[in-house]
Amino acid sequence: MSPRFTPLITASATVLAFSIAPLPSAAQEDNSPTGPEDMPQEVDLNDWSVGDIDALPDDEYGRAVRYGHALTVETHAHIGPEVEDESMRYSGNNLDCASCHQDAATKPFAMPWTGVAATFPQYRGRENTLQTVEDRVNGCMERSMNGRALPLDSAEMRAFSAYIHFLSAGIPVGAKVTGAGTIPDPAPDRAADPVAGEQVYAEQCSVCHGDDGHGMRNGEPGDGEGYLYPPVFGDDSYNDGAGMYRMLMAYRFILANMPQGVDHEDRILTPDEAYDVAAYINSQPRGHKEGMESDFPDRLRKPADMPFEPWAGDFLPEQHKYGPFKPIADWLVAERAARDAAEEEGPQADE
Ligand code: HEC
Ligand code: HEC
Repeated sequence: MSPRFTPLITASATVLAFSIAPLPSAAQEDNSPTGPEDMPQEVDLNDWSVGDIDALPDDEYGRAVRYGHALTVETHAHIGPEVEDESMRYSGNNLDCASCHQDAATKPFAMPWTGVAATFPQYRGRENTLQTVEDRVNGCMERSMNGRALPLDSAEMRAFSAYIHFLSAGIPVGAKVTGAGTIPDPAPDRAADPVAGEQVYAEQCSVCHGDDGHGMRNGEPGDGEGYLYPPVFGDDSYNDGAGMYRMLMAYRFILANMPQGVDHEDRILTPDEAYDVAAYINSQPRGHKEGMESDFPDRLRKPADMPFEPWAGDFLPEQHKYGPFKPIADWLVAERAARDAAEEEGPQADE
């Protein structure tokens, strides 16, 4: 890692609670990024280096960051379902956070945590409330990890937030971060084809993830050793409430990050292949998350590719699962604009 280590740039940059994520229009107007002018307003993670963990002192913060890093790359060994201490079994599967958040959550367009500390608190449509970074960690605990929430005051939660804080040093609130989230490439404007995807899977994925999608373990089931190649479906993978279960998320992650070794600049799959293989893996059995009908209570903010009812509009369930998504997304945008316009004129307007 690089010597560009800047541990003490902290909340001083958080002048206003501004978020780069979509906010309801009213909040957006009131919050603009107004940090000191010498703070970077745009950051490209492709040319950004994070600090050196080993250079951190052996104090509370340094130890928490190091534990957070270990929890990220070897989640299964600390809070996985096969660890000896049963009270520590928070994850329901043997994935690691880094199974998706690659390179210890620093890889551009693989949902990196670099800079993420500056984007919370953040409005999230799934909960329709302002969410903290700890809420977000627990979102992945309950869905991506098919497990249960970490207590807010646990050493593990503090370690995750310390590590995310460390990775975010130097990136101010309100900065535009290139490389955040997943690549913005649009998906093919058609229904995805899981049968064609099965063929892509056999040619490009099964060598590592297995014909049965169950991955390749480091050891034997039950030994807590985790995976060399993680499962992409089955009981030991992410559940159907996870972001990766949604077609557009899986499409964008896979297109820029799989087969392992590729990145967004150096891809192997075509958009069509990535789209169809995402449909294939997300048509296979996996754990079920209860209560998803209460996700995205504002139905006009429910993403087009959420495959669970209820939805606003009359699009068929098949279309929410496999697409084409653009007609749904366009309709949602238009409906929200119409609603906002009506609210501004109506007697309920709060300004
Ligand atoms: C199966 C893949 C997967 C795994 C495993 C996973 N995540 Fe995530 N994570 C995602 C996806 C996809 C997103 C972004 C999309 C979304 O909003 O759901 C995300 C988003 C996040 C974010 C917010 C990032 C941002 O840009 O705002 C945090 C923080 C996070 N995850 C933490 C964790 C932690 C901690 C773990 C391990 C305990 C973990 N994740 C495991 C897929 C995963
Ligand atoms: C060379 C081995 C290899 C190949 C080939 C490969 N992967 Fe992966 N995949 C990995 C590894 C290893 C990870 C964990 C992240 C990392 O370490 O980069 C992963 C992670 C994933 C994840 C997120 C974690 C999970 O378990 O769900 C998905 C989804 C995924 N791969 C899908 C695919 C698809 C689809 C293909 C084929 C287009 C593919 N992979 C090809 C090795 C591979």
